[in-house]
Amino acid sequence: MNYEKLVKTAGRAAGTIAGAAACEAVISDNFIQITKYVLKTEDYDRRVEPVIAAAVSDLHFSRFGKDGRLLVNKIKSVNPDVIFITGDFFDYKNFSGKTFLSSDYSKVVLENISKIAPSYFSVGNHDIRWEEASGENLRQTVEHAGIRFLNYEYDDVKIKGRDFRIGGFFDYGVFEEDYYNRWIGSEARKFLLDFENTDAAKLLLAHRPNTFIYTKYDNRNTDAVFCGHYHGGLWRIPIIDKGIFAPELGFFPEYSKGEYNFGDMTMFLNSGLEGYSFVPRMFNRPEVMKINII
Ligand SMILES: [Fe+2]
Repeated sequence: MNYEKLVKTAGRAAGTIAGAAACEAVISDNFIQITKYVLKTEDYDRRVEPVIAAAVSDLHFSRFGKDGRLLVNKIKSVNPDVIFITGDFFDYKNFSGKTFLSSDYSKVVLENISKIAPSYFSVGNHDIRWEEASGENLRQTVEHAGIRFLNYEYDDVKIKGRDFRIGGFFDYGVFEEDYYNRWIGSEARKFLLDFENTDAAKLLLAHRPNTFIYTKYDNRNTDAVFCGHYHGGLWRIPIIDKGIFAPELGFFPEYSKGEYNFGDMTMFLNSGLEGYSFVPRMFNRPEVMKINII
């Protein structure tokens, strides 16, 4: 092959790869996937109809049709009895000296989700940043949309005749050396011990998974914790389906998306709906989790 031919072939190959990457980015940022899971609780009885939970996370600035119609319809399609929203549904950006807020779209998406089934919201780190930037009150905003806001709180509820305790909290779960000592006396631990003190099935919403993975959360008497924050590792390696990057964990994180078991506790780690700011997702479709609780 002469030089000219080689350059042409390389150019064509590069163009094909760039085109395929662009197509993949469009798919991974727009076409929501429903992933299915089963959670077996202590009162498991195969004769009882499952309670269906839908879980979503990390909307940020993502757009899924007018008023979030595409997302709302996906959630509706799993026919949920209860919906868990694990934070970062609000965000802000500073760009060219201007501040952009996700407020209007996020609010209408939450309003539309709340019409499907009883919905619960726990706080994400970007929600806190949005609250500071917008001057609006996050709790009031979420409650105004018809959604129960859980921050170091829980509700005891009956769903399809079964008892559940549904709680939510926000904790940084940092990795400092003295974390364990700080954790022992922390509000987060105090809350969890109180939250877990019930015979009902315990479902917890916590944006950041860190607390449960790394911080010697010593009780783990919760049936399931629903998390987000890692956006599925942003880009995933196809075939082996491994995440590439997660905040705090760095490259090729051990935890990025899916179901993980820690003793009797199951973690459902949602891959969310957005990339990171201007960086699109790749091989990582936005996710609505459907969890059959049996
Ligand atoms: Fe996020």
